[in-house]
Amino acid sequence: MNNFNFHRPTDIYFGRGAENNAGEICKKHGGTKVLIHFGGKSAIKSGLIDRVEKSLTTAGLSYVKLGGVQPNPRAELVYEGIKLCKKEGVDMILAVGGGSVIDSSKAIAMGVPYDGDFWDFFMGGKTPEVSLPLGSVLTIAAAGSECSNSCVIDKEVNGIIKKKGSNCQANVAKFAIMNPELTMTLPPYQTACGCCDIMCHVMERYFTNTKDVEVTDQLCEGILRAMVAMIPRVMKDPNDYEARANIMWASSLAHNNLCGVDREQDWASHRIEHELSALYDCAHGAGLSVIMPAWMEHVMDHDVMRFAQFANRVFGCAMDFAHPEVTAKNGIAALRALWKSAGLPLSFADLGAKKEDIPTLLNNLGIDDHTEGHFMILKRPDVEAIFNI
Ligand code: NZQ
Ligand code: ZN
Repeated sequence: MNNFNFHRPTDIYFGRGAENNAGEICKKHGGTKVLIHFGGKSAIKSGLIDRVEKSLTTAGLSYVKLGGVQPNPRAELVYEGIKLCKKEGVDMILAVGGGSVIDSSKAIAMGVPYDGDFWDFFMGGKTPEVSLPLGSVLTIAAAGSECSNSCVIDKEVNGIIKKKGSNCQANVAKFAIMNPELTMTLPPYQTACGCCDIMCHVMERYFTNTKDVEVTDQLCEGILRAMVAMIPRVMKDPNDYEARANIMWASSLAHNNLCGVDREQDWASHRIEHELSALYDCAHGAGLSVIMPAWMEHVMDHDVMRFAQFANRVFGCAMDFAHPEVTAKNGIAALRALWKSAGLPLSFADLGAKKEDIPTLLNNLGIDDHTEGHFMILKRPDVEAIFNI
Protein backbone atom coordinates (compact mmCIF):
# COMPACT_ATOMS: atom_id res chain seq x y z
CA MET A 1 0.00 0.00 0.00
CA ASN A 2 1.31 3.50 -0.87
CA ASN A 3 1.58 6.40 1.57
CA PHE A 4 -1.23 8.92 1.23
CA ASN A 5 -2.94 12.05 2.48
CA PHE A 6 -6.72 12.06 2.16
CA HIS A 7 -8.64 15.29 2.72
CA ARG A 8 -12.07 15.81 1.14
CA PRO A 9 -13.81 18.48 3.17
CA THR A 10 -16.97 18.73 1.02
CA ASP A 11 -20.00 19.04 3.31
CA ILE A 12 -22.74 16.78 1.97
CA TYR A 13 -26.47 17.47 2.41
CA PHE A 14 -28.22 14.40 1.05
CA GLY A 15 -31.88 13.50 0.62
CA ARG A 16 -35.36 14.61 -0.34
CA GLY A 17 -35.90 18.35 -0.31
CA ALA A 18 -32.23 19.12 0.41
CA GLU A 19 -32.14 21.89 -2.21
CA ASN A 20 -34.70 23.93 -0.30
CA ASN A 21 -31.98 24.75 2.25
CA ALA A 22 -29.57 26.02 -0.40
CA GLY A 23 -29.71 29.58 0.96
CA GLU A 24 -28.90 28.63 4.56
CA ILE A 25 -26.15 26.30 3.36
CA CYS A 26 -24.54 29.05 1.22
CA LYS A 27 -24.74 31.38 4.22
CA LYS A 28 -23.19 28.81 6.54
CA HIS A 29 -20.27 28.53 4.14
CA GLY A 30 -19.71 32.29 4.08
CA GLY A 31 -21.52 33.36 0.91
CA THR A 32 -23.09 36.82 0.80
CA LYS A 33 -23.41 37.37 -2.96
CA VAL A 34 -23.86 34.20 -4.97
CA LEU A 35 -23.56 33.36 -8.66
CA ILE A 36 -26.19 30.74 -9.52
CA HIS A 37 -24.65 28.94 -12.51
CA PHE A 38 -26.73 26.46 -14.49
CA GLY A 39 -27.11 24.63 -17.79
CA GLY A 40 -29.47 24.57 -20.74
CA LYS A 41 -33.08 24.04 -19.83
CA SER A 42 -33.66 21.20 -17.40
CA ALA A 43 -33.17 23.09 -14.12
CA ILE A 44 -35.46 25.91 -15.27
CA LYS A 45 -38.12 23.56 -16.62
CA SER A 46 -38.27 21.54 -13.39
CA GLY A 47 -38.67 24.71 -11.31
CA LEU A 48 -35.40 23.99 -9.49
CA ILE A 49 -33.86 27.38 -10.27
CA ASP A 50 -36.97 29.11 -8.90
CA ARG A 51 -36.76 27.10 -5.68
CA VAL A 52 -33.04 27.81 -5.29
CA GLU A 53 -33.62 31.55 -5.85
CA LYS A 54 -36.39 31.53 -3.27
CA SER A 55 -34.18 29.77 -0.77
CA LEU A 56 -31.36 32.29 -1.27
CA THR A 57 -33.76 35.22 -0.91
CA THR A 58 -35.26 33.73 2.27
CA ALA A 59 -31.75 33.39 3.69
CA GLY A 60 -31.14 37.09 2.95
CA LEU A 61 -28.52 36.48 0.26
CA SER A 62 -28.24 38.42 -2.95
CA TYR A 63 -27.42 36.65 -6.19
CA VAL A 64 -26.85 36.91 -9.93
CA LYS A 65 -27.58 34.18 -12.47
CA LEU A 66 -25.69 32.80 -15.44
CA GLY A 67 -27.18 29.92 -17.42
CA GLY A 68 -26.30 28.26 -20.69
CA VAL A 69 -23.59 25.78 -19.71
CA GLN A 70 -23.56 23.10 -22.38
CA PRO A 71 -22.48 19.49 -21.90
CA ASN A 72 -18.68 19.35 -22.40
CA PRO A 73 -18.53 22.91 -21.02
CA ARG A 74 -16.85 25.62 -23.05
CA ALA A 75 -14.24 28.20 -22.08
CA GLU A 76 -16.24 31.09 -23.60
CA LEU A 77 -18.89 30.94 -20.87
CA VAL A 78 -16.18 30.62 -18.22
CA TYR A 79 -14.69 33.95 -19.38
CA GLU A 80 -18.17 35.48 -19.25
CA GLY A 81 -18.70 34.12 -15.74
CA ILE A 82 -15.37 35.47 -14.49
CA LYS A 83 -16.23 38.92 -15.84
CA LEU A 84 -19.67 38.85 -14.28
CA CYS A 85 -18.38 37.74 -10.87
CA LYS A 86 -15.75 40.49 -10.82
CA LYS A 87 -18.27 43.14 -11.86
CA GLU A 88 -20.90 42.04 -9.33
CA GLY A 89 -18.56 41.30 -6.41
CA VAL A 90 -19.67 37.67 -6.20
CA ASP A 91 -18.09 35.78 -3.29
CA MET A 92 -19.56 32.28 -3.80
CA ILE A 93 -20.63 30.14 -6.74
CA LEU A 94 -23.58 27.78 -6.58
CA ALA A 95 -23.56 25.28 -9.46
CA VAL A 96 -27.06 23.92 -10.18
CA GLY A 97 -26.62 21.00 -12.55
CA GLY A 98 -24.27 18.16 -13.41
CA GLY A 99 -20.58 17.73 -14.09
CA SER A 100 -20.55 20.30 -16.87
CA VAL A 101 -22.14 23.03 -14.75
CA ILE A 102 -19.97 22.21 -11.73
CA ASP A 103 -16.81 22.23 -13.86
CA SER A 104 -17.74 25.51 -15.50
CA SER A 105 -18.29 26.87 -11.97
CA LYS A 106 -14.94 25.53 -10.78
CA ALA A 107 -13.18 27.19 -13.70
CA ILE A 108 -14.90 30.51 -12.95
CA ALA A 109 -13.97 30.10 -9.28
CA MET A 110 -10.31 29.60 -10.24
CA GLY A 111 -10.36 32.53 -12.66
CA VAL A 112 -11.89 35.24 -10.46
CA PRO A 113 -8.98 35.71 -8.02
CA TYR A 114 -6.38 35.16 -10.77
CA ASP A 115 -4.92 38.02 -12.81
CA GLY A 116 -3.94 35.86 -15.79
CA ASP A 117 -5.95 33.62 -18.14
CA PHE A 118 -7.75 30.78 -16.31
CA TRP A 119 -6.67 28.44 -19.14
CA ASP A 120 -3.13 28.58 -17.62
CA PHE A 121 -4.46 26.05 -15.10
CA PHE A 122 -5.42 23.65 -17.91
CA MET A 123 -2.62 23.94 -20.46
CA GLY A 124 -0.07 26.26 -18.86
CA GLY A 125 1.13 23.90 -16.13
CA LYS A 126 -0.03 26.26 -13.35
CA THR A 127 -1.98 25.37 -10.21
CA PRO A 128 -4.35 27.86 -8.58
CA GLU A 129 -3.48 28.83 -5.05
CA VAL A 130 -6.92 30.23 -4.22
CA SER A 131 -10.37 29.88 -5.66
CA LEU A 132 -13.79 31.33 -4.86
CA PRO A 133 -15.79 29.09 -2.50
CA LEU A 134 -18.16 26.89 -4.44
CA GLY A 135 -20.96 24.41 -3.85
CA SER A 136 -23.45 22.51 -5.96
CA VAL A 137 -27.03 21.38 -6.21
CA LEU A 138 -26.47 18.16 -8.13
CA THR A 139 -28.99 17.12 -10.81
CA ILE A 140 -27.27 14.10 -12.38
CA ALA A 141 -25.26 11.31 -10.78
CA ALA A 142 -22.29 10.88 -13.08
CA ALA A 143 -19.06 12.87 -13.17
CA GLY A 144 -18.55 13.01 -9.40
CA SER A 145 -17.38 16.60 -9.75
CA GLU A 146 -19.44 17.50 -6.67
CA CYS A 147 -16.71 15.90 -4.52
CA SER A 148 -13.72 15.60 -6.87
CA ASN A 149 -10.64 17.79 -7.22
CA SER A 150 -11.03 17.79 -11.01
CA CYS A 151 -12.38 20.27 -13.50
CA VAL A 152 -12.66 19.51 -17.24
CA ILE A 153 -13.17 22.29 -19.82
CA ASP A 154 -13.27 22.43 -23.64
CA LYS A 155 -11.51 25.24 -25.48
CA GLU A 156 -10.76 25.72 -29.14
CA VAL A 157 -7.00 26.13 -29.61
CA ASN A 158 -5.65 26.59 -33.15
CA GLY A 159 -8.83 25.17 -34.67
CA ILE A 160 -8.85 22.04 -32.47
CA ILE A 161 -11.19 21.52 -29.52
CA LYS A 162 -8.94 20.74 -26.56
CA LYS A 163 -10.65 19.02 -23.65
CA LYS A 164 -8.35 19.49 -20.69
CA GLY A 165 -8.48 18.84 -16.97
CA SER A 166 -7.11 20.68 -13.96
CA ASN A 167 -6.70 18.65 -10.77
CA CYS A 168 -5.97 20.38 -7.48
CA GLN A 169 -7.24 20.87 -3.95
CA ALA A 170 -8.56 24.36 -4.79
CA ASN A 171 -11.15 22.62 -6.99
CA VAL A 172 -12.77 20.75 -4.12
CA ALA A 173 -16.25 22.13 -3.45
CA LYS A 174 -17.19 23.40 0.00
CA PHE A 175 -20.54 21.63 -0.12
CA ALA A 176 -22.78 19.42 -2.23
CA ILE A 177 -26.57 19.37 -2.02
CA MET A 178 -27.79 16.01 -3.28
CA ASN A 179 -31.47 15.18 -3.64
CA PRO A 180 -31.85 11.95 -5.65
CA GLU A 181 -35.38 13.00 -6.69
CA LEU A 182 -33.85 15.73 -8.85
CA THR A 183 -32.34 13.06 -11.10
CA MET A 184 -35.72 11.50 -11.94
CA THR A 185 -36.25 13.86 -14.89
CA LEU A 186 -33.11 12.65 -16.67
CA PRO A 187 -33.58 10.99 -20.05
CA PRO A 188 -32.73 7.24 -19.78
CA TYR A 189 -29.66 7.69 -21.98
CA GLN A 190 -28.19 10.35 -19.66
CA THR A 191 -28.94 8.18 -16.63
CA ALA A 192 -27.09 5.29 -18.28
CA CYS A 193 -24.14 7.49 -19.31
CA GLY A 194 -23.86 8.70 -15.74
CA CYS A 195 -23.88 5.15 -14.37
CA CYS A 196 -21.14 4.17 -16.80
CA ASP A 197 -18.98 7.13 -15.76
CA ILE A 198 -19.42 6.23 -12.07
CA MET A 199 -18.28 2.66 -12.68
CA CYS A 200 -15.32 3.88 -14.75
CA HIS A 201 -14.16 6.22 -11.97
CA VAL A 202 -13.89 3.17 -9.74
CA MET A 203 -12.28 0.98 -12.40
CA GLU A 204 -9.64 3.57 -13.30
CA ARG A 205 -8.49 3.13 -9.71
CA TYR A 206 -9.14 -0.59 -9.32
CA PHE A 207 -6.80 -1.68 -12.11
CA THR A 208 -3.49 -0.94 -10.43
CA ASN A 209 -0.02 -2.39 -10.05
CA THR A 210 0.05 -1.52 -6.33
CA LYS A 211 -0.06 -4.69 -4.26
CA ASP A 212 -1.84 -5.46 -0.99
CA VAL A 213 -4.60 -2.87 -1.20
CA GLU A 214 -7.35 -5.23 -0.16
CA VAL A 215 -9.41 -2.76 1.90
CA THR A 216 -9.71 -0.29 -0.96
CA ASP A 217 -10.14 -3.08 -3.50
CA GLN A 218 -13.18 -4.22 -1.58
CA LEU A 219 -14.54 -0.67 -1.33
CA CYS A 220 -14.24 -0.52 -5.12
CA GLU A 221 -15.87 -3.90 -5.59
CA GLY A 222 -18.70 -2.98 -3.21
CA ILE A 223 -19.53 0.18 -5.14
CA LEU A 224 -19.32 -1.69 -8.45
CA ARG A 225 -21.57 -4.51 -7.20
CA ALA A 226 -24.10 -1.94 -6.00
CA MET A 227 -24.03 -0.30 -9.43
CA VAL A 228 -24.55 -3.69 -11.11
CA ALA A 229 -27.63 -4.15 -8.92
CA MET A 230 -28.99 -0.61 -9.30
CA ILE A 231 -28.59 -0.03 -13.05
CA PRO A 232 -31.35 -2.47 -14.11
CA ARG A 233 -33.63 -1.04 -11.39
CA VAL A 234 -33.22 2.57 -12.47
CA MET A 235 -33.52 1.73 -16.15
CA LYS A 236 -36.76 -0.14 -15.44
CA ASP A 237 -38.21 2.50 -13.15
CA PRO A 238 -36.73 6.01 -13.38
CA ASN A 239 -38.72 6.98 -10.29
CA ASP A 240 -37.17 4.30 -8.08
CA TYR A 241 -35.96 6.63 -5.31
CA GLU A 242 -33.76 4.07 -3.57
CA ALA A 243 -31.97 3.16 -6.81
CA ARG A 244 -31.49 6.86 -7.62
CA ALA A 245 -30.21 7.48 -4.09
CA ASN A 246 -27.70 4.64 -4.20
CA ILE A 247 -26.44 5.73 -7.62
CA MET A 248 -26.11 9.34 -6.49
CA TRP A 249 -24.13 8.37 -3.41
CA ALA A 250 -21.96 6.09 -5.56
CA SER A 251 -21.23 9.02 -7.88
CA SER A 252 -19.53 10.91 -5.04
CA LEU A 253 -17.79 7.91 -3.47
CA ALA A 254 -16.47 6.79 -6.85
CA HIS A 255 -14.63 10.03 -7.50
CA ASN A 256 -13.77 11.65 -4.16
CA ASN A 257 -10.64 9.45 -4.33
CA LEU A 258 -11.55 7.25 -1.38
CA CYS A 259 -11.25 4.36 -3.84
CA GLY A 260 -7.80 5.36 -5.01
CA VAL A 261 -5.82 6.90 -2.19
CA ASP A 262 -3.49 4.00 -1.53
CA ARG A 263 -2.42 3.11 -5.06
CA GLU A 264 -1.16 4.06 -8.45
CA GLN A 265 -4.18 4.85 -10.65
CA ASP A 266 -4.56 4.37 -14.40
CA TRP A 267 -6.78 7.01 -16.16
CA ALA A 268 -5.81 6.04 -19.73
CA SER A 269 -9.44 5.30 -20.67
CA HIS A 270 -10.56 8.72 -19.47
CA ARG A 271 -7.82 10.53 -21.36
CA ILE A 272 -8.54 8.56 -24.51
CA GLU A 273 -12.29 9.14 -24.14
CA HIS A 274 -11.85 12.88 -23.73
CA GLU A 275 -10.67 12.97 -27.35
CA LEU A 276 -13.96 11.36 -28.42
CA SER A 277 -16.14 13.81 -26.51
CA ALA A 278 -13.94 16.70 -27.75
CA LEU A 279 -14.26 15.67 -31.41
CA TYR A 280 -17.86 14.41 -31.49
CA ASP A 281 -19.38 16.31 -28.55
CA CYS A 282 -20.79 12.98 -27.34
CA ALA A 283 -21.64 12.29 -23.70
CA HIS A 284 -18.52 11.42 -21.69
CA GLY A 285 -20.14 8.26 -20.28
CA ALA A 286 -21.07 7.07 -23.76
CA GLY A 287 -17.49 7.44 -24.96
CA LEU A 288 -16.30 5.53 -21.90
CA SER A 289 -18.68 2.69 -22.55
CA VAL A 290 -16.90 2.15 -25.87
CA ILE A 291 -13.34 2.74 -24.64
CA MET A 292 -13.19 1.12 -21.18
CA PRO A 293 -14.02 -2.48 -22.19
CA ALA A 294 -11.73 -2.11 -25.23
CA TRP A 295 -8.95 -0.95 -22.91
CA MET A 296 -9.65 -3.90 -20.59
CA GLU A 297 -9.30 -6.39 -23.43
CA HIS A 298 -6.11 -4.75 -24.61
CA VAL A 299 -4.34 -4.70 -21.22
CA MET A 300 -5.84 -7.82 -19.61
CA ASP A 301 -2.75 -9.99 -20.04
CA HIS A 302 -0.67 -7.50 -18.06
CA ASP A 303 -2.29 -8.86 -14.85
CA VAL A 304 -4.88 -11.42 -15.75
CA MET A 305 -5.49 -12.41 -12.11
CA ARG A 306 -6.67 -8.88 -11.28
CA PHE A 307 -9.15 -9.04 -14.14
CA ALA A 308 -10.28 -12.51 -13.01
CA GLN A 309 -10.72 -11.14 -9.47
CA PHE A 310 -12.82 -8.28 -10.87
CA ALA A 311 -14.98 -10.73 -12.85
CA ASN A 312 -15.44 -13.02 -9.88
CA ARG A 313 -16.05 -10.46 -7.15
CA VAL A 314 -18.09 -7.90 -9.13
CA PHE A 315 -20.06 -10.07 -11.55
CA GLY A 316 -19.93 -13.41 -9.73
CA CYS A 317 -18.20 -15.13 -12.66
CA ALA A 318 -16.91 -18.58 -11.68
CA MET A 319 -13.16 -18.46 -10.98
CA ASP A 320 -11.24 -20.74 -13.32
CA PHE A 321 -7.79 -20.96 -11.68
CA ALA A 322 -6.42 -23.11 -14.50
CA HIS A 323 -7.57 -20.57 -17.09
CA PRO A 324 -7.95 -17.18 -15.37
CA GLU A 325 -8.10 -15.52 -18.80
CA VAL A 326 -11.48 -17.21 -19.31
CA THR A 327 -12.82 -15.73 -16.07
CA ALA A 328 -11.33 -12.36 -16.99
CA LYS A 329 -13.00 -12.37 -20.41
CA ASN A 330 -16.31 -13.40 -18.87
CA GLY A 331 -16.10 -10.34 -16.61
CA ILE A 332 -15.53 -7.99 -19.54
CA ALA A 333 -18.41 -9.64 -21.41
CA ALA A 334 -20.67 -9.22 -18.36
CA LEU A 335 -19.74 -5.53 -18.15
CA ARG A 336 -20.53 -5.00 -21.82
CA ALA A 337 -23.84 -6.86 -21.46
CA LEU A 338 -24.83 -4.66 -18.49
CA TRP A 339 -24.04 -1.46 -20.37
CA LYS A 340 -25.75 -2.68 -23.54
CA SER A 341 -28.88 -3.49 -21.54
CA ALA A 342 -28.88 0.14 -20.36
CA GLY A 343 -28.78 1.36 -23.96
CA LEU A 344 -25.13 2.43 -24.00
CA PRO A 345 -22.95 2.26 -27.12
CA LEU A 346 -20.24 -0.38 -27.28
CA SER A 347 -18.56 0.40 -30.59
CA PHE A 348 -17.43 3.32 -32.71
CA ALA A 349 -20.43 2.74 -34.96
CA ASP A 350 -22.85 2.74 -32.00
CA LEU A 351 -21.36 6.03 -30.84
CA GLY A 352 -21.51 7.64 -34.27
CA ALA A 353 -17.70 7.89 -34.33
CA LYS A 354 -15.75 7.17 -37.50
CA LYS A 355 -12.79 4.81 -37.82
CA GLU A 356 -11.28 7.16 -40.44
CA ASP A 357 -10.97 9.77 -37.67
CA ILE A 358 -8.60 7.56 -35.66
CA PRO A 359 -5.41 9.32 -36.91
CA THR A 360 -6.97 12.67 -35.95
CA LEU A 361 -7.94 11.35 -32.52
CA LEU A 362 -4.40 10.04 -31.97
CA ASN A 363 -2.86 13.33 -33.08
CA ASN A 364 -5.21 15.37 -30.92
CA LEU A 365 -4.23 13.20 -27.95
CA GLY A 366 -0.58 13.97 -28.80
CA ILE A 367 0.31 10.34 -28.11
CA ASP A 368 3.54 10.56 -30.10
CA ASP A 369 4.95 12.90 -27.44
CA HIS A 370 3.99 10.98 -24.32
CA THR A 371 2.53 7.71 -23.03
CA GLU A 372 -0.88 7.10 -21.44
CA GLY A 373 -1.89 5.10 -18.40
CA HIS A 374 -0.04 3.52 -15.50
CA PHE A 375 -1.43 -0.01 -15.14
CA MET A 376 0.09 -0.71 -18.53
CA ILE A 377 2.02 2.04 -20.30
CA LEU A 378 0.31 2.78 -23.63
CA LYS A 379 2.01 4.07 -26.76
CA ARG A 380 0.49 5.05 -30.09
CA PRO A 381 -0.05 1.45 -31.38
CA ASP A 382 -1.80 0.53 -28.12
CA VAL A 383 -4.22 3.46 -28.27
CA GLU A 384 -4.78 2.79 -31.97
CA ALA A 385 -5.61 -0.84 -31.16
CA ILE A 386 -8.07 0.30 -28.45
CA PHE A 387 -9.80 2.62 -30.91
CA ASN A 388 -9.97 -0.26 -33.37
CA ILE A 389 -11.57 -2.85 -31.08
O1 NZQ B 1 -28.18 21.56 -19.69
P1 NZQ B 1 -29.36 20.83 -19.16
O2 NZQ B 1 -30.64 21.25 -19.79
O3 NZQ B 1 -29.42 20.85 -17.66
O4 NZQ B 1 -29.19 19.30 -19.62
C1 NZQ B 1 -28.22 18.43 -19.07
C2 NZQ B 1 -27.24 17.95 -20.13
O5 NZQ B 1 -27.83 17.99 -21.40
C3 NZQ B 1 -28.91 17.14 -18.67
N1 NZQ B 1 -29.39 17.12 -17.30
C4 NZQ B 1 -28.66 17.27 -16.16
N2 NZQ B 1 -29.45 17.09 -15.09
C5 NZQ B 1 -30.69 16.84 -15.57
C6 NZQ B 1 -30.66 16.87 -16.96
N3 NZQ B 1 -31.75 16.64 -17.73
C7 NZQ B 1 -32.91 16.38 -17.10
N4 NZQ B 1 -33.01 16.32 -15.75
C8 NZQ B 1 -31.93 16.53 -14.95
N5 NZQ B 1 -32.04 16.42 -13.62
O6 NZQ B 1 -27.92 16.14 -18.80
C9 NZQ B 1 -27.01 16.49 -19.81
C10 NZQ B 1 -25.61 16.17 -19.35
O7 NZQ B 1 -25.21 16.99 -18.29
P2 NZQ B 1 -23.67 17.08 -17.89
O8 NZQ B 1 -23.54 18.01 -16.76
O9 NZQ B 1 -22.85 17.31 -19.10
O10 NZQ B 1 -23.39 15.56 -17.42
P3 NZQ B 1 -22.27 14.95 -16.53
O11 NZQ B 1 -22.54 15.13 -15.10
O12 NZQ B 1 -22.08 13.58 -17.05
O13 NZQ B 1 -20.95 15.82 -16.83
C11 NZQ B 1 -20.13 15.55 -17.94
C12 NZQ B 1 -18.94 16.47 -17.94
O14 NZQ B 1 -18.12 16.23 -16.77
C13 NZQ B 1 -16.77 15.91 -17.18
C14 NZQ B 1 -16.99 15.26 -18.51
O15 NZQ B 1 -15.82 15.16 -19.26
C15 NZQ B 1 -18.04 16.17 -19.13
O16 NZQ B 1 -17.43 17.34 -19.62
N6 NZQ B 1 -16.12 15.15 -16.12
C16 NZQ B 1 -15.80 15.83 -15.00
C17 NZQ B 1 -15.14 15.22 -13.96
C18 NZQ B 1 -14.78 15.96 -12.76
N7 NZQ B 1 -14.87 17.28 -12.77
O17 NZQ B 1 -14.37 15.37 -11.74
C19 NZQ B 1 -14.73 13.81 -14.03
C20 NZQ B 1 -15.33 13.05 -15.14
O18 NZQ B 1 -14.49 11.97 -15.46
C21 NZQ B 1 -15.61 13.83 -16.38
O19 NZQ B 1 -14.48 13.94 -17.23
ZN1 ZN C 1 -15.45 10.29 -15.96
